[in-house]
Amino acid sequence: MENGGRVAAIAVPLLVSALFVAAFLLPPYSSSLGGGGGGAESASIREHFLRHVPQKPSRTPPVPSAQLAGKVSVGPIEESLARSRAAIRRAARGAPAATAAAENARRRRSFKDVGDAFVPRGAIYRNPRAFHRSYLEMERKFKIWTYREGEPPLAHLGPSADIYSIEGQFLEEIEDPRNPFAARDPGEAHAFLLPVSVCNLVHYIYRLNTTAYMAHMRRALADYVDVVAHKYPYWNRSRGADHVIVSCHDWAPLVSEANRELYANAIRVLCNANTSEGFRPRKDATLPEVNLADGLLRRPTLGLPPENRTTLAFFAGGMHGHIRRALLGYWLGRKDPDMDIHEYLPAGQDYHALMARARFCLCPSGFEVASPRVVESVFTGCVPVIISDGYPPPFSDVLDWSKMSVTVPPARIPELKAVLKGVSERRYRVLRARVLQAQRHFVVHRPARRFDMIRMVLHSIWLRRINVRLPY
Ligand SMILES: *[C@@H]1O[C@H](CO)[C@@H](O)[C@H](O)[C@H]1NC(C)=O
Ligand SMILES: *[C@@H]1O[C@H](CO)[C@@H](O)[C@H](O)[C@H]1NC(C)=O
Ligand SMILES: *[C@@H]1O[C@H](CO)[C@@H](O)[C@H](O)[C@H]1NC(C)=O
Ligand SMILES: *[C@@H]1O[C@H](CO)[C@@H](O)[C@H](O)[C@H]1NC(C)=O
Repeated sequence: MENGGRVAAIAVPLLVSALFVAAFLLPPYSSSLGGGGGGAESASIREHFLRHVPQKPSRTPPVPSAQLAGKVSVGPIEESLARSRAAIRRAARGAPAATAAAENARRRRSFKDVGDAFVPRGAIYRNPRAFHRSYLEMERKFKIWTYREGEPPLAHLGPSADIYSIEGQFLEEIEDPRNPFAARDPGEAHAFLLPVSVCNLVHYIYRLNTTAYMAHMRRALADYVDVVAHKYPYWNRSRGADHVIVSCHDWAPLVSEANRELYANAIRVLCNANTSEGFRPRKDATLPEVNLADGLLRRPTLGLPPENRTTLAFFAGGMHGHIRRALLGYWLGRKDPDMDIHEYLPAGQDYHALMARARFCLCPSGFEVASPRVVESVFTGCVPVIISDGYPPPFSDVLDWSKMSVTVPPARIPELKAVLKGVSERRYRVLRARVLQAQRHFVVHRPARRFDMIRMVLHSIWLRRINVRLPY
């Protein structure tokens, strides 16, 4: 409050990056900047939320007064990011990278997993050199600050099992003291994580009041943004553009409408990445949906070799949403032996074993665009068949899905068998080999490891952040 005037002076609208870093990098975006969030007030929910997200949080470390005063210098940070952009652009054009030895020496200082000298290569990457350079720049520089405000279960905690598990796994990993990407103080951060769990908002707030539930969950998220926007200069500085929210819940896009700037400017990392519902791939990122049924982390398998994959296509899942209705409606009754399609698996059948012996695994959207089947297919060495509308698959800024999957528009569901039969044996083996090659990017490790799923999500955030320039 007392420094409102000074903050207004630095709250210059975003400058848009003029650089197209590389073909695979995101073009800059402009944002429609507007007023703050509104929403229905409810005394009871406010109390509930403030009980969990106290204004005087217990875990907040002292923040240097210079930062609280709103006099933040972003010059050096932006200059350093500009150097990263230039390096990535050079790599994208095919220029040789800085010496590998120097690179490794730098990495050794902050990373324990230096033994893994993986270098991305091959057709699954849109531009492997640009990706590699960008990833190394991220390892060298990227620092993310997680706001300490808020208490579990609404903040700092999310589900770590079942279909939304990536939300909790990501939050926990980012707050793990061993996370080398954690900023030591907010002044050095490039990005700011709002550690609110939409899954837990749904779990606790929806249960509390199911009549006006959306307004109440939005109010809770808007309150969180208000708390940090009043307390620190960072939100106002970028109008949220260097802030991040990560959620796998179906309702996350709707809940994120809580605050106009959050919706329009922030990096929303969502499983439900439906471009018809406001998801903007240049600014937002697709979070892979991972079904950890028992909460245990799993390792990918090769599944059966191509010659032993006797089923052409496999799917088992409920009649959720219009795409599944079209799929099951057309194929269930046909009982085609090539098309192993079920609504419910017969007792005694092992879902993952069936995927491991199918050539193609169907990944149709359900009630929402995302399907955990994409990751399950990759894990069982089964070539995914993506059947969805307006769904950018995970890490599409780096991975070229057309090289490792088959895309069938929902309107062509009746032609599925013909399309899959039309893939030659040679092409099939290439696709499957690439699926295996992509596996490392879909494994959840705790703590995270180089190029694994959590680090790839971080890289998605990094890419979007380096195309945003703060005023200085
Ligand atoms: C739920 O919210 C609505 C609208 O804010 C309110 O009228 C109702 O009393 C609330 N119910 C409970 C149980 O709090
Ligand atoms: C950020 O802007 C809001 C609304 O303009 C204002 O109420 C708040 O005090 C500002 N935050 C800081 C830290 O000055
Ligand atoms: C694949 O099939 C061949 C015969 O068709 C069989 O000998 C082999 O054991 C099978 N491999 C696996 C891994 O099932
Ligand atoms: C994506 O959003 C559009 C617009 O709300 C909706 O009609 C469509 O059903 C959504 N897709 C899925 C698979 O839910």
